[in-house]
Amino acid sequence: MTDEHAHIRSYFDTGAAAFDRLYTSQSWRGALDRVLRPSVYRRLELAVELYREVGRPDILDLGSGTARTALALCDAGARAVTAIEFAPAMVVQARALVAASPHADRLTLVEADFLTWQPDRRWPLVLALGVFEYFRDLRAVLARVAALVDAVDGTLGFTVRRFTALRGPVRAARYRLAGCPIYFATRRSITRACRDAGFAHVDIRDGGAGSYWVVARVGSPRGERLE
Ligand SMILES: C[S@@+](CC[C@H](N)C(=O)[O-])C[C@H]1O[C@@H](n2cnc3c(N)ncnc32)[C@H](O)[C@@H]1O
Repeated sequence: MTDEHAHIRSYFDTGAAAFDRLYTSQSWRGALDRVLRPSVYRRLELAVELYREVGRPDILDLGSGTARTALALCDAGARAVTAIEFAPAMVVQARALVAASPHADRLTLVEADFLTWQPDRRWPLVLALGVFEYFRDLRAVLARVAALVDAVDGTLGFTVRRFTALRGPVRAARYRLAGCPIYFATRRSITRACRDAGFAHVDIRDGGAGSYWVVARVGSPRGERLE
């Protein structure tokens, strides 16, 4: 495991309970999170929309945290979701949530680093929500992740951080101080990374609150064609 991976894993291992509260707080704190971090909720909606749009296939969720995305996809009807996560405390909490849900038979939790994991299959839909911004080299990450996406007709949906004057500096400083820097992407860097990873089309949209929502496709004609 590289130093970068170790820092990310440690950061999320320590912060698992606080992170999951983003999905559950009902009080003033929940209301505040919804104002300050709307992209967390928006990306979940976008992932469910994408799942429906591409014909409700099997899903691989990278950096699945406490499995809130995977559970929401099962709520939306997904038959088989594989969720991969490497921070132990996130995995413990995910296992408890999945066991308490009606979806335990449809959701497979894997404790592993998705950048070195070697499954014996690929997926028609791969998702990564709030994950890739922790890696300095988006190109290297996408090159690896592309090997998990169906080579004929696969789709990858992911979020990355976009620098905005309002949120960028505070966000960058906060994560750097916590020992887990985040990196900002541009339309250009995303397009280049997708093209180099072998995707044929990319659609980049505003994901809200300083983020991009990106849909990269191996084969379908939507979005910008990458030559
Ligand atoms: C901000 S959280 C988002 C969790 C989830 N996707 C969500 O939206 O609720 C990012 C998660 O990605 C996980 N992660 C980052 N890099 C990973 C890697 N290489 N392998 C597995 N998990 C990873 C972290 O441990 C963390 O739980």
